[in-house]
Amino acid sequence: MTNWVELDRQVKSWILEAGKRIRESFHAELNIKTKSNRNDLVTDMDEATERFFIEKIRSSFPDHQILGEEGFGDEFKELSGVTWIIDPIDGTMNFVHQQRNFAISIGIYEENAGKLGYIYDVVHDELYHAQKGSGAYMDDVKLPSLQEVSVEDSVIALNAQWVSSNKRIDPALLTPLVQTVRGTRSYGSAAIEMAYIASGRLDAYISMRLAPWDFAAGKILIEEVGGVVTDLEGKELDPLHKSSLFVAKPGLHKTILTKYLKR
Ligand code: IPD
Ligand code: CA
Ligand code: CA
Repeated sequence: MTNWVELDRQVKSWILEAGKRIRESFHAELNIKTKSNRNDLVTDMDEATERFFIEKIRSSFPDHQILGEEGFGDEFKELSGVTWIIDPIDGTMNFVHQQRNFAISIGIYEENAGKLGYIYDVVHDELYHAQKGSGAYMDDVKLPSLQEVSVEDSVIALNAQWVSSNKRIDPALLTPLVQTVRGTRSYGSAAIEMAYIASGRLDAYISMRLAPWDFAAGKILIEEVGGVVTDLEGKELDPLHKSSLFVAKPGLHKTILTKYLKR
């Protein structure tokens, strides 16, 4: 039987330690490589941070499964038992170019269901965390339930990529939405964008292609404060597969989905 209180205490201390190591690395020279294309970056800190968590998890919870973005975890096809879904640095491009606006993101699932979610904004030193059924927090402050907002009063996160020619969505589809909302933002870290929805700093976030480690923790956080997390068609996310993502405050999610996203 997993002792969730003890596990929660340990994860938080590991995350803070990993964050400190990342901040200290700002003074060292980074080894930067590319993955799928020249803009898909990975550094030795992404890899070292994932290895750091895997070592800790293996020694404290040897029967848990791990899905890590950098590939040092396990290979498996279904969620069973307890699974850790880890993005060691979400927003690597920001880490490399700006040294801000990146996060450690960890979602812990039991069977198919999200149980614990952690997003640590390393530079602002803000730890967003949630336990299914117990609410969401930023550090020690409980986050209030999200309130409804009109499309006209909303600020949505959206990458400019999706409103210019791309292979995943007709850019014209999003134009009426962009023209109606109060403003658009793009932070370059899906985890931070999701933490900002949970804490009310943003009202919605749309992305055409994210991986389980990008949204695993954010989904748990957002649902704990009453936000809605689906793909762009309004369907439930599969925690083990890549998909589009559409998250928003209650009410706003339905309005945007039915008025603006129906193809
Ligand atoms: C990326 C960031 C970015 C999103 C990309 C992700 P990474 O994660 O979350 O905001 O637009 O799709 O891949 O590669 O920095 O962990
Ligand atoms: Ca990521
Ligand atoms: Ca990453």
